[in-house]
Amino acid sequence: MNRVKKITCIGAGYVGGPTMSVIAQKNPDVEVTVVDMNQARIAAWNNDDLSQLPIYEPGLDAVVGAARGRNLFFSTDVDKAIQEADMIFISVNTPTKTYGKGKGQAADLKFIELCARQIAEVASTDKIVVEKSTLPVRTAEALKSILDNTGNGVNFHILSNPEFLAEGTAVSDLHNPDRVLIGGESAEAIEALVQVYEAWVPRERIITTNLWSSELSKLVANAFLAQRVSSINAISELCEVTGANVDEVSRAIGQDSRIGSKFLKASVGFGGSCFQKDILNLVYIARSYNLYEVANYWEQVILLNDHQKTRFAEKIIKTMYNTVNGKDIAFLGWAFKKDTNDTRESAAIHVADHLLDEEAHVIVYDPKVTAEQVYRDLDYLGTRSPEDNRRLVKVVNDPYEALDSAHAVAVLTEWDEFKTYDWAKVKAGMKRPSFVFDGRKLLNRKQLEELGFDYYAIGE
Ligand code: UDX
Ligand code: ADP
Repeated sequence: MNRVKKITCIGAGYVGGPTMSVIAQKNPDVEVTVVDMNQARIAAWNNDDLSQLPIYEPGLDAVVGAARGRNLFFSTDVDKAIQEADMIFISVNTPTKTYGKGKGQAADLKFIELCARQIAEVASTDKIVVEKSTLPVRTAEALKSILDNTGNGVNFHILSNPEFLAEGTAVSDLHNPDRVLIGGESAEAIEALVQVYEAWVPRERIITTNLWSSELSKLVANAFLAQRVSSINAISELCEVTGANVDEVSRAIGQDSRIGSKFLKASVGFGGSCFQKDILNLVYIARSYNLYEVANYWEQVILLNDHQKTRFAEKIIKTMYNTVNGKDIAFLGWAFKKDTNDTRESAAIHVADHLLDEEAHVIVYDPKVTAEQVYRDLDYLGTRSPEDNRRLVKVVNDPYEALDSAHAVAVLTEWDEFKTYDWAKVKAGMKRPSFVFDGRKLLNRKQLEELGFDYYAIGE
């Protein structure tokens, strides 16, 4: 097969945007067009001011700046981009279904299906179609069936190429991946995609498998990672009652090279667009094959995560004399982790929801999340009216505005800047006793206690 000359990616989100930017950066001879039906998003990708890109990722502005206009283009003309491409990545969102069969568990594939139908309708030459979104196993089969049955008689080769980038480190993950995984049936199509990655990834790190292994590996990788977080979070609760310190336990077990030291940081709970969704998918697939023990085993990772978020909120309420009604609780952080503006499944949302049920006043500061996003996240839960969310929650642009005169501080995201605040000044402005609930084990206990704070951290 000839080297691909034109790549199109449908979906200019957290996955499609950074991935295509790096592919274009590293393959200057390949023309890469990223399309999205969301006009505002495309306009933001085309913004001359690189600080205004629609997603925040360290280092992404430089990559986009180098390739955009040269061989990287962002457009809303989906049909034209499909028509011209040799290879089409599908990188649209696959949220958990909110209706019908599999509600709350299965992935909603309507966006994928719409893409497939559009490709089938428009394509007049052979295409390699690459699934990049996180998908349940055997989606490729559905994709192939739609393309073959509704297309214009052209050939489609389907590849699965799951993404393993983590938000906040997407650019370095893409530049230096542990591995690239490509699943497919056509050796030629696989080779075409291998060539794209070989522009910067050593060949031995590019793993090729059959389609289903590739699809399943993605779910399993995320399930294993999430399981580590739930495992250490389960131990954090045990530490709190026994006097052990979860950081010390993490360090001690992480030194065992068979266990390894990464992903053992106890927290208020994992979030993000992948972990929960992928495990729910795994659980759904296992149940659909009547593998109940397997399904229940993995489901427990999520139940423990839910428990960790609830437990944190309840700890706050209990410590503040069993009532937070009318009290100001400053939230440091809303994103699901540092260095991203993404809030999907963020623990902060669920902790806030719990406290708002008790009529607390929550004042949110996050360096990268907008007020609109915070309200959207809370309104989406449907727990209370949008008016009540706006009555009880305030979002501020200055951290000291959130902290000043608060009854308590809750750290929900591990942004580095929180460590650098003038905590003596914060203490002077806060109500007494001045509580700090550190859901990320970010701040310095000794320093805060010396300043007179009542400091609580997960797992201590
Ligand atoms: C994850 C996978 O890491 C990535 O490979 C996949 O492609 C997409 O899903 P992401 O969700 O972006 O990436 O971030 P990740 O760094 O995995 O963190 C997920 C959540 O777990 C965050 O809320 C993070 O704060 C939490 N976490 C992670 C912990 O609480 N403790 C840890 O030790 C590690
Ligand atoms: P992810 O984290 O998987 O990248 P995002 O929600 O950030 O998810 O991005 C997915 C993007 O895909 C959105 O910008 C959405 O507008 C776009 N999208 C979804 N369906 C289509 C479609 N049929 N055609 C074009 N763009 C689409």
